[in-house]
Amino acid sequence: MSSTAIKALPGENPVILGLNDVRMHFPVGSDWLGRPKAVAHALNGIDLEVRAGETLGVVGESGCGKSTLAQLLMGLIKPTSGALNWIYNNARERSSNVQIVFQDPQSSLDPRLPIWKVITEPLFVQRSAPRREMRDIAANVASQVGIRTEYMERFPHQFSGGQRQRIAIARALSSNPDIIVLDEPTSALDISVQAQILNLLAELQRSRDLTYILISHNVSVVRHMADRVAVMYLGQIVELGSAAEVLERPRHPYTQLLLEAVPRLGVPVDATQIAAPTELPGNRNLPTGCFFRDRCPKATVGCDRAQALLPVKNVEVESKVRCHLASIAG
Ligand SMILES: Nc1ncnc2c1ncn2[C@@H]1O[C@H](COP(=O)(O)OP(=O)(O)O)[C@@H](O)[C@H]1O
Ligand SMILES: [Mg+2]
Repeated sequence: MSSTAIKALPGENPVILGLNDVRMHFPVGSDWLGRPKAVAHALNGIDLEVRAGETLGVVGESGCGKSTLAQLLMGLIKPTSGALNWIYNNARERSSNVQIVFQDPQSSLDPRLPIWKVITEPLFVQRSAPRREMRDIAANVASQVGIRTEYMERFPHQFSGGQRQRIAIARALSSNPDIIVLDEPTSALDISVQAQILNLLAELQRSRDLTYILISHNVSVVRHMADRVAVMYLGQIVELGSAAEVLERPRHPYTQLLLEAVPRLGVPVDATQIAAPTELPGNRNLPTGCFFRDRCPKATVGCDRAQALLPVKNVEVESKVRCHLASIAG
């Protein structure tokens, strides 16, 4: 995991999902007339395309909107404004299928269900396979994640943390989703198990052409896994590009701070701890101009204007940055 093998960008792959100026604002509290007291501006204009077969890393401090983005992708919430446009090869209308692997397999697996039921839960929900086939489907997917097929009647507590995360991955796989969201998939696991799980995810991606959105605080995990990286700050993407560009030549002052804080070599480090000096401002009232300017060491004339996510100067591969000091428009 400490090796910095950055995958090539699958730039030719077709776009399967486009997000267009997506905003998500939550009313918070209510006054005596039942009107919201305030609004949490969780997402503030997300423009993004997801390509089939890629791993898109999403990084940013706690509270920047990563989980809200995941919930939107899963269809659990509807955006306040803007749109998610799914693009399918076949023109037939169908609903999108996004599954998720959570950080903590301890709490994300129903302890009362034998694991064949855990694994096929999405199929039950979608009614997308006959009940009598569920056990076989579960055993088949389990074998792909390294869980023995004889264990299908066992319960989640009978497995180790790493095995439980394999079961969570099997559950995410069982319904052949369009996208799998990996929300800090290894941060609750022992160091020794983390690399095994990451390698399993990488193998499955190769053999099954999976599309991953990898949410992580851990820059070394993202460096190891991601083809592209989106850096989020206060509900916006501030930098987007190939993992090589974003992690090796960060353009946005926020990305630079986030990465400077991470030692170049050695153990995975939680970027949030170190990025504490850049603590996220509240999102009840959004700042004017560049959202980052109050904390930006490079703030100068022009930062009081709102910043758009624009192509980067002198970079051939698609790279975008929300900073007039680094973008073409600057
Ligand atoms: N259901 C909700 N109601 C009110 N505020 C919310 C809700 N969900 C998220 N938020 C707010 O949106 C912001 C982004 O949260 P979240 O997406 O969980 O960030 P992250 O996953 O990056 O830590 C936070 O300010 C959070 O308090
Ligand atoms: Mg979160």
